[in-house]
Order: sequence, then structure tokens, then C-alpha cells
Amino acid sequence: MTDTKAQDRVLIFDTTLRDGEQSPGATMTHAEKLEIAGLLDEMGVDIIEAGFPIASEGDFAAVSEIAKNAKNAVICGLARAQFGDIDRCWEAVKHAERPRIHTFIGTSPLHRAIPNLNMDEMAERIHDTVTHARNLCDNVQWSPMDATRTELDYLYRVVEIAIKAGATTINIPDTVGYTAPRESADLIRKLLENVPGADEIVFATHCHNDLGMATANSLAAVEAGARQIECTINGLGERAGNTALEEVVMAMKVRNDIMPYQTGIDSTKIMNISRRVSAVSGFLVQPNKAIVGKNAFAHESGIHQDGMLKNAETFEIMRPEDVGLTETNIVMGKHSGRAALRSKLEDLGFTLGDNQLKDVFVRFKELADRKKEIYEDDLIALMRTTTDPE
Ligand code: KIV
Ligand code: ZN
Repeated sequence: MTDTKAQDRVLIFDTTLRDGEQSPGATMTHAEKLEIAGLLDEMGVDIIEAGFPIASEGDFAAVSEIAKNAKNAVICGLARAQFGDIDRCWEAVKHAERPRIHTFIGTSPLHRAIPNLNMDEMAERIHDTVTHARNLCDNVQWSPMDATRTELDYLYRVVEIAIKAGATTINIPDTVGYTAPRESADLIRKLLENVPGADEIVFATHCHNDLGMATANSLAAVEAGARQIECTINGLGERAGNTALEEVVMAMKVRNDIMPYQTGIDSTKIMNISRRVSAVSGFLVQPNKAIVGKNAFAHESGIHQDGMLKNAETFEIMRPEDVGLTETNIVMGKHSGRAALRSKLEDLGFTLGDNQLKDVFVRFKELADRKKEIYEDDLIALMRTTTDPE
């Protein structure tokens, strides 16, 4: 890659509808998949992995229809390293303006033992299947599953074979969430330095979150030269999930000073799609989840609320509007201070003198000790029983 602009552009590959849906219990209906694909396309996702067409008739139908409806995104389907899988995948994605076939095989010792292939036999299978996919489609992604536990020399060898056979994207999956940030970066750097033809293709990073490092590992891979991040909305995915789209996108946006990469994502669409994915998958978002959790822009403690009322930047590193929220949530509870109470009451139409505020504040604290959260109705009731001592 010689174009500096292209070097700074990181492609966002969303696999909510494939790896995300593989999460036990997260199955989505046909209509729900179409809706989510539409939202992903609208928010500027570069590549949508729409499903695994060989897996079921339903998956095939969903991928085909998503391919027909896509406006901007590349539509990708997953296929094992078998001609039948690849043909079925092509039948589904070929309707897209910009189709992609993604084929994979497990290359680590543990994964090689499953199809019982030795290293040479597997290398030959990779050559044949990537060649087959490339004969059908110009845009082919290949993944050595469990790459981070594959012998480095063997990884160099099979990545080179896949590139020579026509793969245009090489994805490096950390299938079991085993790697750490420095190692994730080193692996991409070494592949770029040691595999002939590596500078002609795009390296992707695909991280799972078993040790809670998926976001850090993905960003480290980008710093080392990967230019595609594979991720899901809300980090949905098998076991502890995949890299969360909202986290990598906002990290590169908020810390663009040290991670000067661009994505095509309209971040103001994040909150809406997060809520829709949560609703259709039935997976609730934990309240303290980065970016999209209910508490990500909420403040209860008095010191924080006071700071926020004076200058939002004291306790917020991004604006709620940047992710599609209308405002910061000042939660009234036992940690809240006088300034927040006065501000909240003013929003409700009550202007208080200092003595009156003092009186209401005492009764507010008594109530807050009994109740976890104080709602607007509670404050209005409190004001109704207040006598004006001014
Ligand atoms: O985690 C993984 O290895 C995968 C592959 C199919 C890319 O999801
Ligand atoms: Zn995965």
C-alpha cells in the first residue's frame, strides 16, 4: 500500500449476523437480520458478514436477501475450506453489488487434528479452495482459524499460499481470545515483514474477548499494519464475545491523536443499532459496558455532577451526541450534591432560594437513603410538601 490516505483508513467488518449470531441463544429471525443489515449498511460498515450460507436454508435465504438489498457495504458469506461450502456461499452473495467469499480452516495443531490433515495436505487444501473461491469471486478473504496458536513458520507458509492463490484479504483470528496486545501487534508486523506478497493484500484482525483484551488486541494489530477490524455490535459473539464495534470505532475517534486512523462509521448511529441488536438477540447490555451501557454517560456522585454542570469535559471524554444520545444522564441518588439537585429542580420548573434548597436537600437525602434512585416524580412530590422558609 503506497497511498498514505489508504494506509490511515481502517475497514470495519461487522460479523454480528454471523459470529454474533453463533452466540448461544442469540438467533435472529429473517426479518430481524434484514433490519440489522440495513442499519449496519446505513452507519457505514464497510463489510457485512451476513451469515454462513451452508449452515441452513434460513441462513442462505438471509444472506441472499441481504446481498440483494445492500446499498454500499460489501456483503460477505462464510464458507469452510470445501468446494460445496464455497459454491453455496457464492450462490448467496453473488446478488450483491460487491460480494465477498470468506473461507477458512483451522491451522493450529489442535485444529489440524480435527480433519486429520497433515501440514502438507492442509497446505494443498488451502491452495485448492482459495483458488476455487477466487475463480468465482474477485473479492476473497481467507482465515487461518486459531492463527494465534499456529506455529509461526507454518502460518507464514499458508498465508503465502493463500495470497498466491488469490486471497485479497488475510484475516488473522484470535479464535479463543488467547493473545495479548503486544503479541497481537508482533504477529501482524512479522507477517508483513516475512510473507512475500503481504504488502499487496489487506490484513484483518479478528479477536475474541475471553480475557477481556479483544479491543486492545484489535487496536494493537492496527498499529502494526492491519487495516480491517472484525467486530460485532455490543461485542456479541461466542463465549465472551467478539471485539465490540462501538469500542474500536470510538477509541480511534476519541484518541485520534495517538491512533490516527479513520473509519467510515457514522458514530451517531451507534446507540440505536446497539439497542436494536440487544432487543432482537435478547442479550441485554451490561449497564457499565463501554460506550453503549446505560451508565456510560450517567453521573450520580455529587463531585462528578457538579463538575459536569460546570464543564462536561471534566468527567466525559466524548459527547453523548457523538454516539447518538441526546444528553448526559444526571442520576439523582444519595451521592448527588446540592448543585445537581438545584439544576434538576430548575429543569422541572422550580426556582429555589438558598434556604429552601437547604430544606429540600435534607429531605432529598433522607429519601435517597431509602430509595436507590430518585425519579422526577419523587422530586415533584418533595417540592409539593415543601414550605417556603425564605
Ligand atoms: O474466531 C474465528 O476464528 C472465526 C473464523 C471463522 C474467522 O470466527
Ligand atoms: Zn470468531
